[in-house]
Amino acid sequence: MIRSMPRLDIMIAYSCNISCVGCISLSDFKRDGVAPYTDIESWITKWHTLIAPEVVTLFGGEPCLHPRLPAVCALVRQSWPMSTIRLITNGYLLDKFDSQTWFDYAPLEIQVSIHRKDHEPVINQQIKRILDQRRGWTVHKTGKTAHEQLSWQLGNFKIYKSIFKDFVVPFQQSGKTLLPWYSDPAEAHAICGAPNTPILYKGLLYKCPAVANVMDLTGHNWFDYQACSDETGLDEFIAGIGRPETACAQCPNKTQAVIVDHFDINNVIVKQKNIS
Ligand SMILES: C[S@@+](CC[C@H](N)C(=O)[O-])C[C@H]1O[C@@H](n2cnc3c(N)ncnc32)[C@H](O)[C@@H]1O
Ligand code: SF4
Repeated sequence: MIRSMPRLDIMIAYSCNISCVGCISLSDFKRDGVAPYTDIESWITKWHTLIAPEVVTLFGGEPCLHPRLPAVCALVRQSWPMSTIRLITNGYLLDKFDSQTWFDYAPLEIQVSIHRKDHEPVINQQIKRILDQRRGWTVHKTGKTAHEQLSWQLGNFKIYKSIFKDFVVPFQQSGKTLLPWYSDPAEAHAICGAPNTPILYKGLLYKCPAVANVMDLTGHNWFDYQACSDETGLDEFIAGIGRPETACAQCPNKTQAVIVDHFDINNVIVKQKNIS
């Protein structure tokens, strides 16, 4: 039986070309590499027979660091023909790829996250390269969510700029050590930046990027979190999407929260050359 679900993120890159304090994928810690294409293929071959997400998000780290990103898009399109593919990117590296290629994978959305206000002109140029490939875009000044600032739509292809600004750091940091907050899960979930975004991470389904990345990076499983590995437990996993659960105690409540201003240039370091 194939279960529908609103959204599935897939972690295809662990490293990132920028380092953002408080990143939900821990881009400000040492993260290396991308998921091998053959691994992604085996995960999708397994999960596409069990779930049908309305939106499949290519997530990271920075997905544009994946050398086979177009092939991953093609694989997702073939495996989930009805799903919208959403590429979430910081935009700096979009020019690594042929701008024409994206039109082959519609329905497609490219969410371009603007992490540093002072770099927005650079990112605008990256978006323009794609827009210049076609005529007839419809421009919208605001989008479906508070973060969606400006969008361009052409048929079932959409590009939009997303500005998050305030990041809640999803763990407690003591020196170099990452720890959970042991908060009340419902209180943590109430201020969560990713309250309903399950992720396929190294082949397993996790509640959110924060739980998957913190468990992987630290090697700790403080809350005995059981990632979903097959059809057993899948109904329970899907029923839990968007709800607080024990592992949310990793994150802070409102009083504990460290909130990072993302337009402060000190909080976003671009590792790519030529951009300070
Ligand atoms: C983790 S990034 C990965 C994809 C890509 N590198 C990018 O920057 O868009 C995906 C999205 O998560 C958001 N994000 C990162 N850390 C967050 C946090 N602590 N709370 C809420 N959203 C966060 C970013 O703003 C970005 O839009
Ligand atoms: S553990 Fe819960 S509160 Fe923390 S990021 Fe994930 S869903 Fe949000």
